[in-house]
Amino acid sequence: MNQNILLIGGDGDLAMRKLYPALYALEAADQLSGVESITGLSRALEDREQLLEKMLPWLQALESFNEQAWQRFQARITCLQGDATQASTLLQYKEQLDDDNPNVIVYLAVPPKVFGGACRALKESGLAIPSTRLVVEKPLGSDLESFMSVNAEMRATFEESQIYRIDHYLGKESVQNLLALRFANVMFEAIWGATHIDHVQITVAERVGVEGRKEFYDEIGALRDMVQNHLLQVVCLLAMEPPASRDPFMIRAEKLKVLKSLKPLADEAIKRYTIRGQYKEGSMDGAVVPGYVDELNSSESGTAKSNTETFVALRAEIDNWRWAGVPFYLRTGKRMHTRASEILVQFKSPRHIIFGKGDAITPNQLRILLQPNEGITLHFLRKEPGLSEFTLEEAELNLTVTEARKKNGSYDAYARLMLEVLSGDQTLFVSAEEVEASWKWIDQIIEQWQKHDVKVKPYTAGTSGPVDAAVMIAQDKRQWSDIE
Ligand code: BG6
Repeated sequence: MNQNILLIGGDGDLAMRKLYPALYALEAADQLSGVESITGLSRALEDREQLLEKMLPWLQALESFNEQAWQRFQARITCLQGDATQASTLLQYKEQLDDDNPNVIVYLAVPPKVFGGACRALKESGLAIPSTRLVVEKPLGSDLESFMSVNAEMRATFEESQIYRIDHYLGKESVQNLLALRFANVMFEAIWGATHIDHVQITVAERVGVEGRKEFYDEIGALRDMVQNHLLQVVCLLAMEPPASRDPFMIRAEKLKVLKSLKPLADEAIKRYTIRGQYKEGSMDGAVVPGYVDELNSSESGTAKSNTETFVALRAEIDNWRWAGVPFYLRTGKRMHTRASEILVQFKSPRHIIFGKGDAITPNQLRILLQPNEGITLHFLRKEPGLSEFTLEEAELNLTVTEARKKNGSYDAYARLMLEVLSGDQTLFVSAEEVEASWKWIDQIIEQWQKHDVKVKPYTAGTSGPVDAAVMIAQDKRQWSDIE
């Protein structure tokens, strides 16, 4: 089946950084043979040569870059200059295609304010036929209301089954591995829940600051930018009930139940169990990095103040049979001392201790490293070998996936997601109902922050976040895992 990919915003940042490199990676892996054309559409693009010239350095930076694949890839690239919200532009595109009933994948790599106009133009030009797929990604609104409105604009033209909402965390190998870990290994199911698990931690730490997105980020903050989507999707995969199959409807239905079971955080809980942080100047790798507000001010006359969080830590609870009483501690921040995403599943201590009083029992821990290192470690206790007294020592089962990665190649999340769009599989994409349920939960946190005037706490760039986050978890007599 021949497919045509239309990238609206075809010369933008997302297209250059992620989309062309992902498509190229598929080309290099011989996965693009069914693709007839890849068209970059933008108002600013002059011609095909200019587009190729712009994308080439991004592709050359890839490990998989080679001249033959590049020749094959560029033979598929075409370019169109115009306004994607005008039917005339899209008609021009349609005329370029060989087929009268073309299979088209439209990627809206543009801000959501353009979605409505582009969908209408797709409809008017006759491109919105049942085989057309529409790919979009965050920000899908900045709250429930704005999401509902942008979603309604898309649904006026496309069916839910045609819309692929990307959360790039779902394209990460290590995140997908959560499904394999939980549902391909019988040993975990029996202990997966409140009876044996004490609590769960999910950390997504970033070293980068807000980079070129200052104005956008200042309106959004870490809760909306990271928790509403990526962290909650990871919570879903960890907490959902076993789906009946890997079918997208089954998986999405189970994830939705988790999102709908998240307990609202009100009043006392907001004050005790949510921490907002904002980085201030600090030192990273021996160099001074400016604070968030200084960065904001650098482009203007310089007096802006901001109460936007670049770090958030909170305690979530899933109010259902399996998870009642098991806290899920989430934290994410920019300008932290390291880039590391990981999950810690902390088990309970044995109910009855048969060893001597001197033997401290460290509870079992399952650590799932998501990035940049990937792997799973299980921490347990064993007898210290030898003739000496019976003493316990800590040991670790370590399943790093480096070798398998070397063998099968390593792909960016976007390459996998593009492949899934090409094959028409929505499993790794987020349903409208999921986005809706996540926004509901996030919106009420923001409302409560406003009600209680919750201010950001400063933390020094290059550290693990505000001390208040450590105090928050210490109230429950627990501590954050060390991330390196
Ligand atoms: C994006 C956020 O969705 O995810 C960024 O908007 C963040 O602020 C990025 O930096 C993190 O993605 P990754 O794949 O680097 O963990």
